[in-house]
Formats: sequence, C-alpha cells, structure tokens
Amino acid sequence: MRILVTGGAGFIGSNLIQRLLLNKENKVFNLDKMGYASSTKSIDNLLANINSKSLGKYEFLNVDLENKLDTQNALDYVFPDLIMHLAAESHVDRSIDRPDSFIASNIIGTFNLLESSRKIWRNFDKKKKSTFKFHHISTDEVFGSLGKTGSFSEETPYKPRSPYAASKASSDHLVLSWHHTYGLPVVLSNCSNNYGPGQFPEKLIPLTIYKAYRNQSIPLYGDGENVRDWLFIDDHIDALLLVAKQGVIGESYCIGGQGEKSNKNVVLEICKIMDKIIPFNAPHKKLISYVSDRPGHDKRYSINPSKIKKELGWKSKYTFREGLEKTVHWYINNLEWYEKTITSKEYNFERLGNKL
Ligand code: NAD
Ligand code: DAU
Repeated sequence: MRILVTGGAGFIGSNLIQRLLLNKENKVFNLDKMGYASSTKSIDNLLANINSKSLGKYEFLNVDLENKLDTQNALDYVFPDLIMHLAAESHVDRSIDRPDSFIASNIIGTFNLLESSRKIWRNFDKKKKSTFKFHHISTDEVFGSLGKTGSFSEETPYKPRSPYAASKASSDHLVLSWHHTYGLPVVLSNCSNNYGPGQFPEKLIPLTIYKAYRNQSIPLYGDGENVRDWLFIDDHIDALLLVAKQGVIGESYCIGGQGEKSNKNVVLEICKIMDKIIPFNAPHKKLISYVSDRPGHDKRYSINPSKIKKELGWKSKYTFREGLEKTVHWYINNLEWYEKTITSKEYNFERLGNKL
C-alpha cells in the first residue's frame, strides 16, 4: 500500500503514521508544510529505535497544499493507493484571530489536493482505480452547537459557527461534490475532541497539564460548563483505519468516545492526577481561573457513534480516566522536548482568540 498522509507532522497525523508504519507492507508518505504545530520527532524516534526491517517505509514531503503545482508534483510522485487527508489549520481560537490561513489551508488546500487526486486517479489502471480511496478527516464542529440533550449523527445538518468550523464544513462539501460530480472515491469521518500524546499545547488538555506542572493559573473560558465529547487518540486511529479500509465510498462516519465532560470537570481530573505527581503543589485546582469566554463558544458537542460501531465494528477501548493518565504522564516525561518545540514556534501560552 502506498499511503499519502497529509498533515502527518501534526498531532493526529503523526500518531496515525506511527501506527501505519507498524505494518511493514506499507509505504507511508508524510506531506506537511511544517507549520507551528508540526513535529516529526515521534515518528523519527520510532524509526530510530525499532529495527527498520520490521517497519514500513517512510518518506517526508515538505509541501504546502496551498501551492497547486507542488501538490500536483507530490501526487504524481507518490502515486498513492490511499490518501488520508488530515492537513488543516485546527485551532478554533487562532481562526478567530486570523481566519485567513484557515480559508487558505482548509478550503484552497483541500481543493488543490482534490484536483491533483482527480488528475492521477483518472489515469490509474482498472485495478488501482477500483481500490483507490480518498479519506477526508473532519470534525464534529461542522454540525454546530447542541443544547443539553441530543447528539450529532451522519444525518445532522451542517451549521458551523466558527471560522475554523466553517472552513472544515466547506472542505467536507468540496470532497463530497468531487465524488458526486467526478466519481472520485471518497469517504469522510467527523470526529469529536481528541486528546493524547503530541498535541500542541494551545489546546485545553495539554495546556492545563503544562500550566499545572508549572504552578501557573489555568484558564477556563466562561463558566467552564461547555461540554466536549473526548476521544483518546489511539481509539481515533483504530476508527480511521477501519474507515479507510472498510468505509463505503460516498459515506461519512461520525466518531466519538461517548466521553462527554464539562471543561471544568476535565480540568479538575487533570488537577487530581497532578496532585499525585507533585503533592507539594496540591491542590492544583486552586490554580483554576475563570476568564472571558471564547466569542461564539459552542456550548456542547456529543457524537452518536452507532453507525461506525454497527457497520464497521469499531468501539473505543479507553475510558477517559485511562486515556488522561497516559496523556499526563507522556507530557511530564517529554517536558524537555515539549518546551523546546514550543519555544522554537514562538508560542508563550498566551490567551488566543479574544481580540475582536
Ligand atoms: P494539528 O494542528 O496538530 O496538525 C495539522 C497539521 O496539518 C500540521 O502539521 C500542519 O502543518 C499541517 N498543515 C496545515 N495546513 C497545511 C497545508 N496547507 N499544507 C500542508 N500541511 C498543512 O491538527 P490535528 O489535531 O492533528 O488535526 C488533524 C485533522 O483532524 C484536522 O483536519 C482537524 O480538523 C481534524 N480533527 C481534529 C480533531 C482534534 O481534536 N484534534 C478532532 C476532529 C477532527
Ligand atoms: O470537536 C473537535 C474539535 O476539537 C477539533 O475539530 C479541533 O481541531 C480541536 O481543536 C478541538 O476544538 P475545541 O475548540 O473544542 O478544542 P480546545 O482544546 O481549543 O477547547 C476545548 C474546550 O475548552 C472549549 O470549550 C474551549 C475550552 N478552553 C480552551 C482553552 C484552550 C478553555 O476553557 N480554556 C482554554 O485555555
């Protein structure tokens, strides 16, 4: 299998590539522009520490999907059997401050990738054409915001409410239209909030771990009662592999861990784990500080994952507590790398997304 992963130096992409490389039949191409959230360190570590004969082959392509010609050249070179498209600007707060790069990467970038894919796909021989798939990885944020009850499913109408969510919704529509109009064999997945090793610390869980470790104030937006449906990264990777392999062309699959928690409860759980690791700073919950709300803050996300469970046999393996313990310990053990990565990207844990 020649597999092209876009955004493979990001949080989900780098975890996905590590899993794909465990199959030595795979040749994995990682296409990434190496933005502020990128690192290939975990993939490089895997390649350095495991006998290369037992792993698949790996190649990195430094390409920005905004560049049409570079994207086409990359596709001609890779000649993929499968594309897993994760490359995107992914942080809601940054999309509030600077929406431009979200339109460019998530919409224009996806358009360029679709056009390049269509060009190579239409010249494939019959066999390759019949097995090729373009898997577009999207988010539950395209569905908007829920009240106290109900869950998103594949039937939920789109109602994005942030520049990030709107740019992802646009990319979903482009992908489906390339299927309906040109016949490109696509499959989509819409996932809830991921957490786990290697997530850039602008996001709630790694940011809280870092702040607690450094004994600094932990910012909770608004009243802290907004709800997210948390999914451990390994469970998401299991689901992505199933969708890529067995997902029905033209269909979409909602992926969620049925792990709904208010932001306040997430932060309190992290504080409890930190109390055990650094008892002399306990209780870490004293660090919690309520700050002004995110503009347009979606109240609640919840995924009904019945379709992927029933049709593809997926289920999550990790409870929130298990995934969180693993995540906290990973960050504490990798603090030096983590801080170096951040400093090199000139991010100072400052509040983002509140300058209107
Ligand atoms: P991330 O920000 O950690 O990584 C994204 C990667 O994409 C980065 O390495 C970045 O350099 C790359 N990229 C961005 N624009 C690019 C471009 N124009 N050309 C080439 N590379 C580009 O994001 P993530 O959390 O790993 O998310 C990956 C995908 O999954 C995104 O499409 C996101 O919308 C989706 N998603 C994420 C979550 C989550 O909770 N993290 C949940 C649902 C869906
Ligand atoms: O739902 C899937 C989405 O989850 C993905 O599509 C996005 O790429 C990913 O970033 C994530 O979006 P969120 O906006 O939900 O994640 P974030 O970690 O930024 O925020 C989670 C919640 O915590 C949200 O309600 C805002 C709140 N928050 C966030 C930060 C950074 C705080 O209260 N304080 C903070 O400092």
